[in-house]
Amino acid sequence: MSESTQAQDRTFPPPEQLAAGANVGPDVYAEADRDRLAFWEQAARRLSWEREWDQALDWSKPPFAKWFVGGRLNVAYNCVDRHVEAGHGDQVAYHWEGEPGDQRTITYAQLKDEVCRAANALLELGVQVGDRVAIYLPMLPETVIAMLACARIGAVHMVVFGGFSADALASRLDDAGAVLVITADGGYRRGAPSALKPAVDDAVSRSGNVRNVVVVKRTEQDVEWTEGRDLWWDDVVGRQSTEHTAEAFDAEHPLYIMYTSGTTAKPKGILHTSGGYLTQVAYTHWAVFDLKPDTDVFWTAADVGWVTGHSYIVYGPLANRATSVMYEGTPETPHRGRWWDIVDRYGVTILYTAPTVIRTFMKWGEDVPAKADLSSLRVLGSVGEPINPEAWLWYHEHIGHGRCPIVDTWWQTETGAHMITPLPGVSTLVPGSAQTPFPGISAKVVDDEGNELADDSTGLLVLTEPWPSMLRTIWGDDDRYVDTYWSRFGPSTYFAGDGAKKDADGNIWLLGRVDDVMNVSGHRISTTEVESSLVAHPTVAEAAVVGASDPTTGQGIVAFVILRGDAAEKYGAEGAGGELVQTLRNHVARDIGPIAKPRQIMVVQELPKTRSGKIMRRLLRDVAENRELGDVTTLTDSSVMSLIKDKLPSSPSED
Ligand code: WT7
Repeated sequence: MSESTQAQDRTFPPPEQLAAGANVGPDVYAEADRDRLAFWEQAARRLSWEREWDQALDWSKPPFAKWFVGGRLNVAYNCVDRHVEAGHGDQVAYHWEGEPGDQRTITYAQLKDEVCRAANALLELGVQVGDRVAIYLPMLPETVIAMLACARIGAVHMVVFGGFSADALASRLDDAGAVLVITADGGYRRGAPSALKPAVDDAVSRSGNVRNVVVVKRTEQDVEWTEGRDLWWDDVVGRQSTEHTAEAFDAEHPLYIMYTSGTTAKPKGILHTSGGYLTQVAYTHWAVFDLKPDTDVFWTAADVGWVTGHSYIVYGPLANRATSVMYEGTPETPHRGRWWDIVDRYGVTILYTAPTVIRTFMKWGEDVPAKADLSSLRVLGSVGEPINPEAWLWYHEHIGHGRCPIVDTWWQTETGAHMITPLPGVSTLVPGSAQTPFPGISAKVVDDEGNELADDSTGLLVLTEPWPSMLRTIWGDDDRYVDTYWSRFGPSTYFAGDGAKKDADGNIWLLGRVDDVMNVSGHRISTTEVESSLVAHPTVAEAAVVGASDPTTGQGIVAFVILRGDAAEKYGAEGAGGELVQTLRNHVARDIGPIAKPRQIMVVQELPKTRSGKIMRRLLRDVAENRELGDVTTLTDSSVMSLIKDKLPSSPSED
């Protein structure tokens, strides 16, 4: 039996103590099933509303949903002021740590003052209800403050990840019609200051609507300055009053736009609104992580510039009065144990990160986290891609010390919040599976015609009921919204774009984007399945698999692998001429079946990843099919691709 099969056979019941004191128990599923809308209404009542809703859901014009119709609330008030008013002003909202090691502690009372100041500054600059404000910042407290200031005055924020290029920023500023950009002189990454302002200057010079650029001082780099347009944050925010009365907005008032890449070149501006979004991010954050506001220290180790950061660094944790850690930099700076130092220093109890990071830590070796204590941890989370059972078990053992449940949370920018996930005090965990729909969520696995499949079969994941934190549209493009998500199976079934399998026990296994599902000689094989098999081999640290078009079989499986440290030493970074490659091909054939035997395996040093950590399979497919490389602007490091291309043999291996 292969290692991956063994891993999948192991299950982990909830730790007794955690189950006994968990925020939600097993009854929650039946309760939500009994009355889905009443369940979400109860979740909404955890927030503070100026006016209660008249109707929980208006789904009379699918796929355009309205949640908590007629309700009014202020999102920033819910995240900040109400905790201060309830006497928790001295509680730490964020332990912020810069990459160079500088620290800032921000209490809820301080956060309230800063958010009010920033809100007053936005008003002084003429920002009005509904205006779009672009935020192009590193991981700073000001990033959160700027987001909340927008929410407070009813402006729509649009955070653009600090690693995006001037081009990417310009197209987003244009698409959203942003009137203001909030940025910084720079931020720290990999031990050095990186600049942000030049990209803003370039982008804004091409975009008609931006009136002002507000600049946070972080690195003290020299910046170009446009008089009359550019303002220092410290000046324009610093001089404001800390008093601002938050006005309530409609539950469906737009909260933010987050751009995400689709199958075409033009990014989609995913629109989230206020009441439903905050309800579901707050409730899932509380239930899925078992968040205890008085004792937990919560850390989502991701960037605020993507949806994980919006929902689980900012809105969910703050709505629940959590104490969070926020870290500016990269995990290997100044050494590979940086994260574990942070966990120990702040006593982090809940850690949420992505499988790709976990596999990187595996590559670096278990002796690195072994130097840290880590005994404060009690719940671990995973998000962004399927977590292969080996990475799951490594995370469980070497980070969680066998003690901490791992919640593998499936969701998307579009869903706004967790959708399929175990619950730490309830579920018996099955490594590698996201398991079951969250209470109040209806997810199914269907065939190409939309018929629900019996258990133990593979198909497409769909969501068959609207949910509170669902996207409401694609900014400025209702037609694309309908086409992309709601046309394949009719206007009330959401097509997630993921392949999925439901096993005989009813657990859902995510199999990657359907465009990542390969078809080899008429057999459906998931890239993830082959990757999982490869990383189960003791020599492999990380693997990415693509289906390359093949004249005989339709698609052929091409794998890119990074070796573990000891294997790289033994075989050399290139895998010792072919010997190891044959071993790995045979390993996969044995593990999954001969049909899954990769046509070609390339041993590489790095894989091309987006800044949110996703492997860019599109580029790997280009390499595998010997095409000119497509758009590489969202890559963390575009030189990775030229390195990989140089390795490409002129003809694929045969047999
Ligand atoms: C896609 C959404 C949700 C925030 C991060 C990514 C994949 C996400 C999981 C998981 C398997 C996952 C899916 C999904 N994905 N989480 N736990 N297991 N796959 O947001 O960039 O909008 O990507 O990420 O393919 O469709 P995103």
